[in-house]
This record gives sequence, C-alpha cells and structure tokens, in this order.
Amino acid sequence: MGLLSTFFTGVIALAGAVSAVQYCDSGTSVCYSETKAGDLFVRVALPAVEQNPFDILMQVVAPKAAAGWAAIAWGGKMTKNPITVAWANGNKTVVSSRWADLIPHIFEPSSPRRCHPFWPNGCLLTWHQKHPRTSGRYPKATYTVLKGSTANATHWTLTALCSQCASWTADGVTTALNPNDKAAKFAYALAPTAPSQPANNASSIVKHTIHAAFTVDLAAARTDKFETFFEMELRWDLDETSGKK
Ligand SMILES: *[C@@H]1O[C@H](CO)[C@@H](O)[C@H](O)[C@H]1NC(C)=O
Ligand SMILES: *[C@@H]1O[C@H](CO)[C@@H](O)[C@H](O)[C@H]1NC(C)=O
Ligand SMILES: *[C@@H]1O[C@H](CO)[C@@H](O)[C@H](O)[C@H]1NC(C)=O
Repeated sequence: MGLLSTFFTGVIALAGAVSAVQYCDSGTSVCYSETKAGDLFVRVALPAVEQNPFDILMQVVAPKAAAGWAAIAWGGKMTKNPITVAWANGNKTVVSSRWADLIPHIFEPSSPRRCHPFWPNGCLLTWHQKHPRTSGRYPKATYTVLKGSTANATHWTLTALCSQCASWTADGVTTALNPNDKAAKFAYALAPTAPSQPANNASSIVKHTIHAAFTVDLAAARTDKFETFFEMELRWDLDETSGKK
C-alpha cells in the first residue's frame, strides 16, 4: 500500500454519530468509506445503487500482533450473517467465507472430567445450550482477492470484491444492506493467534479474544467509479495470479 490520504467528509458530528471518513488509496484512485474498528481499519466501496443486489469492495488493514486472524460480520452479529475472515499467508492474505450458527444440544464432558461407573458413558456430561459455532463455511458469498492484498512484517491487508455479502437469508428471512444507510451495523472479531494452516482458507481458527459492533457509513461508500476500481485498478497483474484465491 502506498501512502494514504484521509480526509473527513462528515460535516456535523452529532452526539453518538460517527462522521464518515473517506480513505483514498494513493497507489490507485480507489476511495472507500473508512471505519476504525478497534485495531482494524475497515473500508468499503459500493456502486452508486439504490438497493440490493450489489457487490462490495472491501479492505481490512490489521496489525499482526493483535490480529492473527480477523473477521467482519456483515449483519453486525456473530451468528446468521456472512462473515469475512482473513489472515496473512506469507506476503499475501487469505480470505475465508464463513457463517456461524447457534448449535443447540451440545453435550461435552464436564471439565475437569469426572467419571463414575454408574453415569452415562462412565463420565458426567454437561449440557451447553445454544453454543455459537463459527466453523461453518459460507460458499454463497464469493470473493475475488485483489491487488493490495499484502502482508509485511507488521500488518496484513485484505482487498477483495465480495459478491453476496450485501444480502443473506437466515431462518427464511432475507436481510439486505441499504446502500444509503449512514450507520449500517457491522461487527468484528479477532484473535492474536494465527490460523494453524495459513495457506488453507478452511483452516481452523482459535476463538476470538475481542469482538465488538461498529457502524459503517455505506452512503459515503457509494461511488460512480466502482466498476473502474476493480476492473482497471485492482486486478493483479497476470503474472501474479497467486494473489487470486
Ligand atoms: C512475496 O513472496 C514471494 C515468495 O516468498 C516472493 O517471490 C515475492 O518477491 C514476494 N513479494 C513481495 C512484494 O515481497
Ligand atoms: C476456499 O476457496 C475455494 C476456491 O476459491 C472456494 O471455493 C471455497 O468456498 C473457499 N472456502 C472458504 C471457507 O472460503
Ligand atoms: C506494512 O503495512 C502497513 C499496512 O499497509 C503499513 O501501514 C506499514 O507502513 C507497512 N510497513 C512497512 C515497513 O512497509
């Protein structure tokens, strides 16, 4: 990534309102709506549409010390919305499309394990209700990893085009992002421990150590130049196809 120019487009800072920050990448002409979410910078750009469906250009910049992996949840919650998980792999980044659900009725050995010949299976089991699980893949959302997905000694950056991150269906209800929403609800999660198999987009990841909700100004992310951004400026050179996941 080159140097950056950041400037405020928000005019009025109402109490509790977040002013939109536009981030323009100096290496390209791409401009995003930027939000600082904990240790992460989350940037999005979308076409100048009035409603779903639309693809989203996203960028996440993460310090490696804090974020061995980081996740962005498009509906602002841990479960039942598309989750973009990313991490560094050498000098590139890997993106993984995931979904979390509440898994009811999970029986686990109690800890420390207590056993007795008259208990079921010889050991006492405890019942954990509604256990959120993040390991699910979400093949419906697809990503094109773009130029600018790099990692250096201290940070990794994901730059990707996501198809089907802007709407999703859970329990028969379809939710779509409103491209004019100035405070769309998002959430992030991260953990300092990197995935065990960084080259594998289905690698297991350790549980998050931090998670929080934040809002994104989607209205400030709309741009007439959307098509140009990823067709002309953000494609990897042809001899760098390894950047495409
Ligand atoms: C990334 O790593 C590869 C393999 O280690 C190396 O060939 C390439 O030059 C590196 N690219 C950059 C920009 O450092
Ligand atoms: C991993 O990448 C493959 C090939 O692009 C894709 O089909 C698959 O859905 C991805 N898996 C995850 C978990 O993102
Ligand atoms: C590493 O990448 C981050 C994020 O793009 C950037 O801010 C930082 O200056 C880079 N560090 C070096 C040594 O290039």
